Amino acid sequence: MLALVERHIKSYGGEPRVFKAPGRVNLIGEHTDYNDGYVLPTPIDSFLWVTISPREDDTVRLQAMDFDEWAKHKLSSISYDKEHLWANYVLGVAHSLMRRGYLLRGFDLSIHGDVPLEAGLSSSAALETAVVRALNETFSLDIDPVEMAYIGKQCENEFLGVQSGIMDQFVSGMGEYGKALFIDCRTNEHSLHSLDPDYTLVILNTMVSREVAGSDYNVRKSQCDEAVRIISKEHPEVKALRDVDEEMLVGSWGKLSDVVARRARHVVTENGRVLDALKMLSEGDMHGFGGLMYDSHDSLRHDYEVSCMELDVLVDSTLYLNGVLGARMTGAGFGGCTVNLVEKDYVDEFIELVSKRYFTSTEKRLEAYLV
Ligand code: GLA
Repeated sequence: MLALVERHIKSYGGEPRVFKAPGRVNLIGEHTDYNDGYVLPTPIDSFLWVTISPREDDTVRLQAMDFDEWAKHKLSSISYDKEHLWANYVLGVAHSLMRRGYLLRGFDLSIHGDVPLEAGLSSSAALETAVVRALNETFSLDIDPVEMAYIGKQCENEFLGVQSGIMDQFVSGMGEYGKALFIDCRTNEHSLHSLDPDYTLVILNTMVSREVAGSDYNVRKSQCDEAVRIISKEHPEVKALRDVDEEMLVGSWGKLSDVVARRARHVVTENGRVLDALKMLSEGDMHGFGGLMYDSHDSLRHDYEVSCMELDVLVDSTLYLNGVLGARMTGAGFGGCTVNLVEKDYVDEFIELVSKRYFTSTEKRLEAYLV
């Protein structure tokens, strides 16, 4: 991080402090977090770093080292920066902190990262988490880690207009490398679970970039809300799709539109898969775990409809290969990455064969990252 620190000193002077937070890959539990459900992500070994030095006035000066771009704002009149989209993750976090009553002063902040962008690996949550850590320490705000995650979420929901859940910020802030983090997104209860060292998680990037801010994500959220509205008429205890079981869903099926019913079925079955996957992980049943990953992908592809041709090709390309136990799209979808559970000894062969199949079908070259 020397280059970032040197650049910060050269641009702003002072003695900056350095903070970082990782991206994430989700093993199973997709589009369940904003339905009060369960998720099972793990941090990846790629980070967003920020350097920060406080100021005496209310000016905020920002630079994105990787883009060589600069932005300048006033805390007292923070608004969305249409020219520098990256700056909004910092401004949105500062905005959320002030809305919660935390007192800030101006600051100079520089950003650098190696989490692939627009790939569904949560570079944005990593930046929000690094920024909230930086502001927490710099201005002695004394915020606990769960609230920090909710500040990042508030930035997404209110400042950026994406109705996302809590998973990404939660695992970026509280995950541990080499362990899966189970999160109950209603109660915030969470627990760490060691991953089996005989297997590697291979992330394959379709190189089709994903635009969450596009309306599709928010449309999925409102379809889930509609399902809850209708099902709760008969079952008043239902406050979120988390409260719906398969029997209730079958009973309400005819009252839901075909699309809304399938969206709800994905969430209900996916929550079940996360609980099953957690059990299998603790019992060392990695073949069972891998099977659930394939089931999850099918459900995201056909019921939730957030996959795309390239993601499907990548998952299908893993079928009948040696050493692979499971594969699925990970993150919001509409492009981005798949996550694959592969036996250690087969990793190189796996990447080579899938890359070839992917290129033959799409004429695109994938990128592979190991967790
Ligand atoms: C994005 C959101 C998360 C979650 C996933 C889908 O990463 O930020 O909150 O909803 O999509 O599981």
